[in-house]
Amino acid sequence: MSFAERSRDYVDLTIKTENNMNVLLVSGHTNIKGDSVANKNIIQEFENLMPNAEIDLLDELYTDFKIDVKAEQQKLLRADVIVLQFPVWWYSQPSLMHKWMEDTFQHGFSHGRTGKALVGKKLVASFTTGAPAEAYTLEVSGATLEEIIMSPIVGTARLTGMTLLEPVYTYGVSYQTRNNPEALADMVERAKEHARRLVEIIKKSEK
Ligand SMILES: Cc1cc2nc3c(=O)[nH]c(=O)nc-3n(C[C@H](O)[C@H](O)[C@H](O)COP(=O)(O)O)c2cc1C
Repeated sequence: MSFAERSRDYVDLTIKTENNMNVLLVSGHTNIKGDSVANKNIIQEFENLMPNAEIDLLDELYTDFKIDVKAEQQKLLRADVIVLQFPVWWYSQPSLMHKWMEDTFQHGFSHGRTGKALVGKKLVASFTTGAPAEAYTLEVSGATLEEIIMSPIVGTARLTGMTLLEPVYTYGVSYQTRNNPEALADMVERAKEHARRLVEIIKKSEK
């Protein structure tokens, strides 16, 4: 059964970690089963390590970018921990993930006087870059990777009352090197290691 089929099936189930927390991973990659290596392997390893987590593959559910707002809000309501999983595209999240957030985080749901649905939930940003760490210095990019990617996420967490956990990221998983089998194997291994770090941060937050 595909990720997407299972994520639909999970809609009416209660999904919990060992310590009784519901974990939702939202994937913003726009072609996870096609050209992804890093995000695909991160999600697969994450599923192995956290089989009860709900995996929300936006590209499989919303090829037309028409987000089912009610369904997505229900997934968020059920979750104790929300993982934003994405490749860095143009120093940001892919447009699909932005669209998901723009549509789903509605005034009166996630923010505003009566919008308290996300208060107290934990939020983790988990992302990958094509460029190596050396590209994310003040001299080269004008800011560090965390400053670039996390600024809007920090604002979102504050506005919605979510608690931000430490971000998890992997540099240098570039499309340029994928024809080289050794580089590809290294990328897969680093993706798995990324998933292990992510799971550790979530489990640590449960204590
Ligand atoms: C449209 C597009 C924009 C990208 N922009 C950036 C960028 O701003 N910074 C960066 O380091 N890598 C950038 N990349 C590289 C991706 O971050 C990299 O390919 C991705 O993290 C690898 O994950 P995947 O194997 O799951 O696709 C970009 C790639 C694409 C396709």
